[in-house]
Amino acid sequence: MHLTLIGIGTGNPAHMTLQAIRAMNAQDLILIPRKGAGKADLAELRQAICDEMLTNAATRIVEFELPVRDEATADYRQRVDDWHDAIALAWQEAIGGQGHKAQKVALLVWGDPSLYDSTLRIAARLDPAPTLEVIPGITSLQALTAAHAIPINEIGAPFTVTTGRRLRDEGWPKGVDTIAVMLDGTCAFQTLPPEGFHIWWGGYVGMKEQIICEGPLGQVRDKIIAMRANARENHGWIMDIYVLRKEK
Ligand SMILES: C[S@@+](CC[C@H](N)C(=O)[O-])C[C@H]1O[C@@H](n2cnc3c(N)ncnc32)[C@H](O)[C@@H]1O
Repeated sequence: MHLTLIGIGTGNPAHMTLQAIRAMNAQDLILIPRKGAGKADLAELRQAICDEMLTNAATRIVEFELPVRDEATADYRQRVDDWHDAIALAWQEAIGGQGHKAQKVALLVWGDPSLYDSTLRIAARLDPAPTLEVIPGITSLQALTAAHAIPINEIGAPFTVTTGRRLRDEGWPKGVDTIAVMLDGTCAFQTLPPEGFHIWWGGYVGMKEQIICEGPLGQVRDKIIAMRANARENHGWIMDIYVLRKEK
């Protein structure tokens, strides 16, 4: 089997590259995960991308139920490992359950498969191992920096991409003046002192629902927390990301 992981960008069909569209149309099968309530919009978005981009009538779309992570297992790594095993199994069942064996199978990966995404790690569990191909996609970080029209790095300077949990538990990472924070359900920027930082924040970046806010952290912190809470209430879900830079 040849498995293609296609980066689809962050929720805007216009993020699809020509390479991604060509790859979709070269498949026997495209697997689409169905998630629990609240995330339905994302499954629908993948379906909408297929409706708009698929011109090859021979390419079949197969939905599979995304297994739920067992939060009862105490060890976090074990919990994630078990979950990835279950997802690999669900892929295999969805592919095998289609009568004849599909040779060319693809998954549509949110953003880019290299950035905080486990699809490649799950693919490594498949037995027999498929040949692998990755089509890069626009990341949420790029969609954020584009929305604010900012460079991510200062001239010649490094930056760190991290998670809300790490920022909250470990504080500002050493050796950088700029960080990008993803996977933050708790507005971890609140744990920083309000003075001395600038924030560029965005929810649903690149999507039609996009909301953004930027300014000195102390001045916009509460506004961002309120915007995030309202948007989450209205849509039933939110994905947000931000860049923080130490003010000189
Ligand atoms: C599991 S990671 C996937 C990242 C993805 N592979 C990428 O390239 O952007 C999910 C996190 O990405 C960020 N994210 C993804 N899409 C986003 C969007 N449209 N707007 C804001 N943040 C987004 C959020 O921080 C979210 O918690």
